[in-house]
Amino acid sequence: MERTLSIIKPDGVARGLIGEVIKRFEANNLKIVAMKMIYMTKAQAQGFYAVHKERPFFDSLTDFMSSGPIVVLILDGENAIAKYRELMGATNYKETAEGTIRRDFATDIEKNIVHGSDSPESADFEIGYFFNSFEVIC
Ligand code: CMP
Repeated sequence: MERTLSIIKPDGVARGLIGEVIKRFEANNLKIVAMKMIYMTKAQAQGFYAVHKERPFFDSLTDFMSSGPIVVLILDGENAIAKYRELMGATNYKETAEGTIRRDFATDIEKNIVHGSDSPESADFEIGYFFNSFEVIC
């Protein structure tokens, strides 16, 4: 079993896609063990994406991620990190496989509906960034 962090980004929430995204988790044996809706400040978004702070898109990305409410979830399952990344599709929605969340709904390389951890190390950091142990179902 493995654990990963998912974010339904401000564009996904604003466009009414929370249910659609969650439906895909449930249909693919990714068990939701924690979930909440939050509205990040710019500083909180900068902290979350600190790994990208030298990238040219950092300022725009953190503006976007603090522009509206998001839903953060912890998903449990066998190979959860890879399985969720497959469901999500690649960062660039134009280059990703048919039937993925980003291919079906993203409109932009930045406004790409969902985020997912890319390794066990980033999952640990990202889960700890949003959740404490009392918020996770055992
Ligand atoms: P995410 O999976 O949340 O990880 C980093 C985010 O930065 C990514 O999704 C996109 O929203 C954004 N991003 C990555 N590459 C670019 C890019 N070339 N231009 C703009 N935004 C990007």
